[in-house]
Amino acid sequence: MMSEKRVTFATKLGVIATAVGSAVGLGNIWRFPYETGQHGGAAFLLIYIGCILLLGIPVVLAEFIIGRGSHSNVSGAFRKLSPGTGWHYISYLGITAAVLIMSFYSVIAGWTMEYTYQALIDSFGSHTPEEFQQDFTAFTSSPLRPIFWTFLFLGINYVIINRGVQNGIEKYSNVMMPLLFLLLLVFCVRSITLPGAGAGLSYLFDPDFSKIDSSVVLGAMGQAFFSLSLGMGTLITYSSYFSSRTKLVRSATTIAAFDTLVAVLAGIIIFPAVFTFGISPSQGPELVFITLPHVFQQMPGAYIWSVLFFILLFLASLTSTISMCEISVAFFTEERKMSRKKASLLHISACAVLGVLCSLSFGVLSEATLFGRTVFGWCDFLSSNILLPLGGMLISIYVGWVLDKKVIRKEMTNNGELRTRLARILVFVLRYIAPTAIILIFLGGLGVF
Ligand code: PFF
Repeated sequence: MMSEKRVTFATKLGVIATAVGSAVGLGNIWRFPYETGQHGGAAFLLIYIGCILLLGIPVVLAEFIIGRGSHSNVSGAFRKLSPGTGWHYISYLGITAAVLIMSFYSVIAGWTMEYTYQALIDSFGSHTPEEFQQDFTAFTSSPLRPIFWTFLFLGINYVIINRGVQNGIEKYSNVMMPLLFLLLLVFCVRSITLPGAGAGLSYLFDPDFSKIDSSVVLGAMGQAFFSLSLGMGTLITYSSYFSSRTKLVRSATTIAAFDTLVAVLAGIIIFPAVFTFGISPSQGPELVFITLPHVFQQMPGAYIWSVLFFILLFLASLTSTISMCEISVAFFTEERKMSRKKASLLHISACAVLGVLCSLSFGVLSEATLFGRTVFGWCDFLSSNILLPLGGMLISIYVGWVLDKKVIRKEMTNNGELRTRLARILVFVLRYIAPTAIILIFLGGLGVF
């Protein structure tokens, strides 16, 4: 169990696969296409990639430096590196974000389980576009069925975390992630040969700059942080298990590249289909669920493709939520001396309560809104667009201004073994560029200018 004995990852692939397991999930395949669709397409993609390069990779590195530099959970890391200061309060931000995200994420993961089931009993076969939409609405708005799946998903997380067998699960990442990737490639080929492919691809890749406004930029920044699992300490926690030979820069860029590639592939699958089947790109959270079954329907061997895809999506969600649980569990076991069982129960129960409200946001609570957002909408907006970038900003400021430069140099050069000038550039970006950009995007998003 991770909390009892600090272990390090055995292989290079293990390091990358575990972090990729956290990064790649519903954020890439469900959230990225729907956010892109709601924010006008290619212009959003462009800003998103800008955010990954300018903010994402530097903050990933900042988290790695803190994590490996301390070999500790989020709170312990700040206490160790800067004793007697208040920086460890960042861990509360991380735990709050972890609970908020996991609550709505588990609802969507529950949907993937329902769709796995539907795929298994072969119910997608002869549906028309209208029928897919109707079935989806009937399912998500019903009070019990989605909650059942949400609870089942949370229960699976509980068992895995409680038994401390996440290492076992993460081993599957080594096989699962490449398989998911291959599957996406196959679906891409199908999608770009659909009649609406031209319109779909130009929606995704041909930017209309008039679509850019401050909410598009805030959305893209939130998506970048969400997708990289950034700003809440996941990567601090994971990198605390890195070995002294793990190359941080190479790992950070590989993870970011793979994560972005998966999101773009998802876009290449979804948008041609959206335009072919007359679905609105700005449909919202249901976009992927009503679009993908159409794509499968158009493929020989539809049954096997859809079953495989939804199982892999479910597993990809699981490796992401396990990394969210690990933040709270590492904190409560190492800092509060709770048992692993109690810590995981606490985390999962909080997510279950909020998860019910998130699930009902698509049914009986759909009218219960505050400033136009449901409980689900608030959990998503608050965590992705506010808490994660805020956490990212604090982490940048911490590494850029507060952390001893010796720690940064040591981590960036693996104790002097690697030659790199990047440490200087990184500090510059973390000091000046990342915090300023995040503040400006926040102010823009809040309508200040
Ligand atoms: N990055 C995950 C995804 O894209 O699905 C979501 C996520 C996982 C966010 C872990 C935050 C986190 F700590």
